[in-house]
Amino acid sequence: MLSSTFLSLSLFFLTSIATPAKRYDLDGNGVPDLCTTNSDGTASCLLSDGSLTTFKTSTTIPAPRATVTLPDPATFKKDNGTKWSIKYVGNLAFTGTLQAKGLGGDKCRSSKLGNKVIWSCGDMECKGGFTSSGCGFSMGPAFYGTSSVLTVNTTGISLVQSNDFAVPFSGDPKPVAPQSAFGMDTSNVAAINATHGVAYAFEIWRGASDGSFVNRGNAVVSVTLGNERPIATRVGPLLTGPNTIQLGLLAILRDGDFVYTYSIGGPSGIIVGRVAASDQVFSASAYSFLVAGSTSTWKTPGSIPAASSTTFGMTTTNSGGKFSCGAYGSVFFNTYLGKYVIICTAFENFTNMYVSATPFGPWSAEYGLLNGWGIGYGSMAHPEFSTDGGKTFHFSQGPDGPFNMFEVSFNF
Ligand SMILES: *[C@@H]1O[C@H](CO)[C@@H](O)[C@H](O)[C@H]1NC(C)=O
Ligand SMILES: *[C@@H]1O[C@H](CO)[C@@H](O)[C@H](O)[C@H]1NC(C)=O
Ligand SMILES: *[C@@H]1O[C@H](CO)[C@@H](O)[C@H](O)[C@H]1NC(C)=O
Ligand SMILES: *[C@@H]1O[C@H](CO)[C@@H](O)[C@H](O)[C@H]1NC(C)=O
Repeated sequence: MLSSTFLSLSLFFLTSIATPAKRYDLDGNGVPDLCTTNSDGTASCLLSDGSLTTFKTSTTIPAPRATVTLPDPATFKKDNGTKWSIKYVGNLAFTGTLQAKGLGGDKCRSSKLGNKVIWSCGDMECKGGFTSSGCGFSMGPAFYGTSSVLTVNTTGISLVQSNDFAVPFSGDPKPVAPQSAFGMDTSNVAAINATHGVAYAFEIWRGASDGSFVNRGNAVVSVTLGNERPIATRVGPLLTGPNTIQLGLLAILRDGDFVYTYSIGGPSGIIVGRVAASDQVFSASAYSFLVAGSTSTWKTPGSIPAASSTTFGMTTTNSGGKFSCGAYGSVFFNTYLGKYVIICTAFENFTNMYVSATPFGPWSAEYGLLNGWGIGYGSMAHPEFSTDGGKTFHFSQGPDGPFNMFEVSFNF
C-alpha cells in the first residue's frame, strides 16, 4: 500500500520536474530508478520498496558506471563458464491453489511499477488444460510478484481469468466464424510515473477448428496498481489495423523521458519507436520511429508503421545487419555492463544478447547465452530482482507449461 504521505510527495516531485540528466540506481538492483531532477539541485528517486528518496545531485550518490568491458562475441563464447556463466535454477512457481494445480503457459514478463513487480503472462492454464484442470484459462493474466524472482503471488486466486489484464474493448468487432475467440498478446509494462504505466496488446481473432487466425490490430492500455491485482484499462479503439508492426511486443522500456517500443519488422528485424512518457502514449500519431540505417534520426510518421516498412529500423553489427530475435524478448539497462541489453531467442533454440550504449542502438553483434536448451519462447528477463547491481540477472522461457528460469552471472 502506498501511504498518503508517499503519494503526495510523489505527486509533488514527479510532476514538477525537468528531464533527469543522470541515471541513479540507489537500490542497487542494476536497473535505473524512476528519478526526477528538481529545480533546487536535488533529484528524487523511487526505490524498489516504493519509497521516494531525495538527495543533492552535486554531492552524494554517483550515477551507475560501467565496471566492465565485454569482449567480442567469439571471446565471450570461450569465456562461458569462467568469466560469465549461465545455469538453470528451477521453474517459476506460483503460490496457493494455482501452484497446486500446475499453472503454466506461454510466457510471463515482469515489470516494475511503484513498489510492485507486475508479472504479465500469456495463454495461461493449469495442468490438464482449461476444460479439466478447474483453474480456467486466461489469454493474458497479470499478478503481483513476491520478493523472489522464482515465485509469483497467486494466493487466493482460483480461476486464472479472474486476473485478466488487457482484454478486448466492448467496441472491438467480435470474432466472425470460423474464428470464435480473441487473443490479446501483451507486452511488459513501462512506468509513466509512480502510479501509472502503459502496456500494449496485439488483438487477434482465433479459435477456428483449423487453427487459422485473423490479425486485428494494436491496442494500448493504462496500467494502475489495484489492491488485489494490476489493472489494465483500455484507452480508445484499436490504434491500428492488422498490417502494422505488433507495437512493443518484443519489449518496451521506460528510459529518460521516453517509452521505447521494440517491435519485429523492418530491414534489420527490429523497429524501435519512442513517445513521451505521458498521456502521449495513447496517441498513435505521437510515436516517432528511428530511421533505418541511421543512429539518431527519428521521424514521426503520424501512424504506426507497417511490419514490412523499409523506412524504419535499428542497426546491429550482427552478420547481414539482422537481429535474430523471435517474436518476444526483453530490453533493459544493465548497470554492471553499463549498457542497454536485448535478450531474445532465435528459432526457439538460441538465446542471444545484444548490447548498446543507447536504448536505440547501434547494437553489437549477437552474444550467445544459451544454446540448444530445447524450446525457448521469449526470453523474458527479470532484472528488477537483481541484488548485485546487475552482475547477476535472471530470465525465463516458456512455452506451453512451466517456465524455466535461468541465472546469468558476469564476472569480468
Ligand atoms: C501519471 O500518468 C498518467 C498517464 O498514464 C496521468 O494520467 C496521470 O495524471 C499521471 N499522474 C501524475 C501524478 O502525474
Ligand atoms: C501474496 O499477496 C497477499 C495479498 O494478496 C499477501 O498477503 C501475501 O503476503 C503475499 N505473499 C507473498 C509470498 O508475497
Ligand atoms: C554456456 O554454457 C552452459 C553450460 O554451462 C550452456 O548451457 C550454454 O548453452 C552455453 N552457452 C553458449 C552460448 O554456448
Ligand atoms: C531446436 O531444438 C530442437 C530440440 O530441442 C531440435 O529438434 C531442432 O532441430 C532445433 N532447431 C534448430 C534450428 O536448431
